[in-house]
Amino acid sequence: MPWRSSDVPRVEAVGVTKRFGRITALERCDLVIGDGEYVGILGLSGCGKTTLIKILSGLWGPTEGRVLVDGQDVTGVPVEERDLGYVFQNIVLFPHMDVWRNATYGPWVHARPEADVEAVGKEVLELVDMLEERGMFPGELSGGSQQKVALARALANRAKLLILDEPLSALDTRVRLELRYALRRIVKDLGLTAIHVTHDQEEAMSVADRVVVMRKGRIVEAGGPEDLYDRPANLFTANFVGENNFLEGSVKRTVGTWAFVEFRNGFQLRVPSPGLMIGDAVVLAVRPEGLALVKDGFGNVLPGRVEGRRFLGATQRILVRLFTDDVVAVDLPSSQSLNTGRDVMVSFNEANILVYPRPFAGLQEALKLE
Ligand SMILES: Nc1ncnc2c1ncn2[C@@H]1O[C@H](COP(=O)(O)OP(=O)(O)OP(=O)(O)O)[C@@H](O)[C@H]1O
Ligand SMILES: [Mg+2]
Repeated sequence: MPWRSSDVPRVEAVGVTKRFGRITALERCDLVIGDGEYVGILGLSGCGKTTLIKILSGLWGPTEGRVLVDGQDVTGVPVEERDLGYVFQNIVLFPHMDVWRNATYGPWVHARPEADVEAVGKEVLELVDMLEERGMFPGELSGGSQQKVALARALANRAKLLILDEPLSALDTRVRLELRYALRRIVKDLGLTAIHVTHDQEEAMSVADRVVVMRKGRIVEAGGPEDLYDRPANLFTANFVGENNFLEGSVKRTVGTWAFVEFRNGFQLRVPSPGLMIGDAVVLAVRPEGLALVKDGFGNVLPGRVEGRRFLGATQRILVRLFTDDVVAVDLPSSQSLNTGRDVMVSFNEANILVYPRPFAGLQEALKLE
């Protein structure tokens, strides 16, 4: 079957801006999605994810900027003339059609020969494991099954570009996790380019080859899941993707490749120095699993007092109020017992510390999840 072909599209947004009256939903977004790439678009509600993919797909036109597919300007080309499959944010199946009719709607509406419709229908429903339910109506299906049919319908266009808007958000956790991996497998097996919008960072990290982080109409940064987690280029990403502790300080002195950062009450830590200068205002980011509690006060440690504990299952999160007056979260195995009020030493392994310049508008503004 002529499904797997080498001409998988490469999609580009160049300076895309979208305004709705006084609201700027997108502000000069530049993005390249390579052929055969599975890209996750991640951001909080209202940040412009749906607007971006509607523009990429031709459902909407941008106010400014261009969309290119394989280098060709397609900005003015409507969605009907594009070769793509789209799964909308809200499941939209035709309620009066059964699973089979819903799934084969695309080839049917394009008046494909009956034998083709038959073959495509069988193939896509098999892919999402819904062939046996072919005679059922949407109202008789669970949300997860409806979502699978919506996906089958998008795939039935045999398009090489698949655009998915929060395809799993309406589902409960177990079904969501199952479908997540099914989605990725289907996209990779068929050799498609996929753009998958979600506000769930775990979902984005586990399905996508590359994750694009958006905030308030702008693309903040893009990178592979591990890179975004281990080396976020931006404080917003460091806060939004996974969890982080942030400490504000200023560089007291530098020695070779190290800088000594001073916090309130004169406490200092040694950090790797990417060209820091004395007096630089910095923010350190360390993940809760990157901290440890130690017995003695030697080395890269800050003293503090245990202020609380949250049980997380295999691990526990210890909240420590440092003598710098910052509160940090430290993740430890749950087996370790620690009482509130106890004095502890928090050990900061240099390899786990990321250093950022202190943002001009202040740390709170840079981290704000909105
Ligand atoms: N048709 C429209 N008319 C006016 N404003 C709109 C329209 N569509 C979107 N907006 C505004 O544009 C901004 C971005 O909306 P968009 O739907 O792209 O966000 P989103 O990231 O998809 O959010 P969610 O996660 O809630 O789906 C919001 O402020 C929204 O109110
Ligand atoms: Mg949306």
